[in-house]
Amino acid sequence: MSDKPAFVPGLEGIVAAQTKLSSVDGQAGELLIAGFPVEELAGKASFEEALYLLWHDALPNAEQLTSLKQELAAQRELPQATLELLRAAARSKVADMDALRMGASTLSLQTTGGAASDAAQRDAVRLVASFPTIVAAYRRLLGGEEPIGPRADLDHAANYLYMLSGQEPNPERARGLETYLNTVSDHGLNASTFTARVIISTQSDMISAIVGAIGALKGPLHGGAPGPALDMVFEIGEPEKAEPYMRAKLERGERLMGFGHRVYKVRDPRAEVLSVAAERMYRADGDMRLYELTRQVEQTAVALLAEFKPGRKLQTNVEFYTALLLHGLGLSTDVFTPTFAIGRVAGWTAHCFEQLRNNRIYRPQSVYTGVKDRRYIPLEQR
Ligand code: ACO
Repeated sequence: MSDKPAFVPGLEGIVAAQTKLSSVDGQAGELLIAGFPVEELAGKASFEEALYLLWHDALPNAEQLTSLKQELAAQRELPQATLELLRAAARSKVADMDALRMGASTLSLQTTGGAASDAAQRDAVRLVASFPTIVAAYRRLLGGEEPIGPRADLDHAANYLYMLSGQEPNPERARGLETYLNTVSDHGLNASTFTARVIISTQSDMISAIVGAIGALKGPLHGGAPGPALDMVFEIGEPEKAEPYMRAKLERGERLMGFGHRVYKVRDPRAEVLSVAAERMYRADGDMRLYELTRQVEQTAVALLAEFKPGRKLQTNVEFYTALLLHGLGLSTDVFTPTFAIGRVAGWTAHCFEQLRNNRIYRPQSVYTGVKDRRYIPLEQR
């Protein structure tokens, strides 16, 4: 018998890190962020407070919070070279996530790099601060408009909405976005977080680690597709059409977008937080129709999935209410995944700090499945 460890596709079930940043329990439907249930933290903390918490394992006091806000606000402007690159990207109409990846990479122009803790800290601030500016500037350039520069007097989330639209958001909208960003700020050792940890474990630099993570998040198996979940709600259009529409879809063997999860076998706790945030925001806007239609679609979908896929425990996932919330904030579906990255970069950078504090380079093994003892045949004889 071979004493080699067994191959585990996708590393499923393998524990590859210890972390204090988040805990995901898919059976209980529980997500802890730095010890706080997501329901407790996401709707109350500002994004900057949640970021501080992930970086320092404690909520900031007033002085610490002010100082972090100032540091971030001071790093929001993009280098000229980044803006030029985004203009070139817009001419080629590259996707928003690719523009974010390329834009984030240019931040190395302003940095000394390396994994020393002060360099990593400076780069982390620059990355978190710049993500919204890159995403908003690129979205406007793609639409043929000039970017709107950041405002240092606005908080992180409000400033992002301002740079997208030119309108200062009302407090309910800023709160809605902060709740979303906090909700998605960290989620265990997912693919992009693992990517960031692998890169920083080589003592590469923070910017390289985060650029790699963006690349991982971009994939449809990870960054998800909240757009299609919302498209389905729009196609349904009226509450009474929900049942026949989705029944027909399931009879054709199609999947209902926004339902089912690899880890969560009960309702994703993030769906609950986001549905509460969406309700609050739509109520403040004075038009509950889309919110109520979405609730109706959700209830019908869960009942139909139990009928068509008994025992599969298919419940609402984070994407379903992400779509409703971000749409209500006026965001186009093209920026849904980049906005996810604006929240998740908090967790990515925190994981890099955690990895660096107790580092061991990631070096798993592979099992060779090819042939052996091949002999080189000169070209003229092949
Ligand atoms: N609608 C209808 N049937 C479904 C759905 C769904 N949304 N999700 C799973 N099923 C069915 C599958 O067809 C399969 O049925 P079968 O055994 O009869 O063939 C069974 O449930 C198990 O499906 P798997 O794909 O093996 O389940 P897994 O846990 O791997 O899938 C996934 C998780 C990919 C999210 C899946 O539920 C899905 O495709 N959902 C729709 C897309 C979606 O909402 N994606 C966003 C996920 S959230 C995120 O990524 C952050």
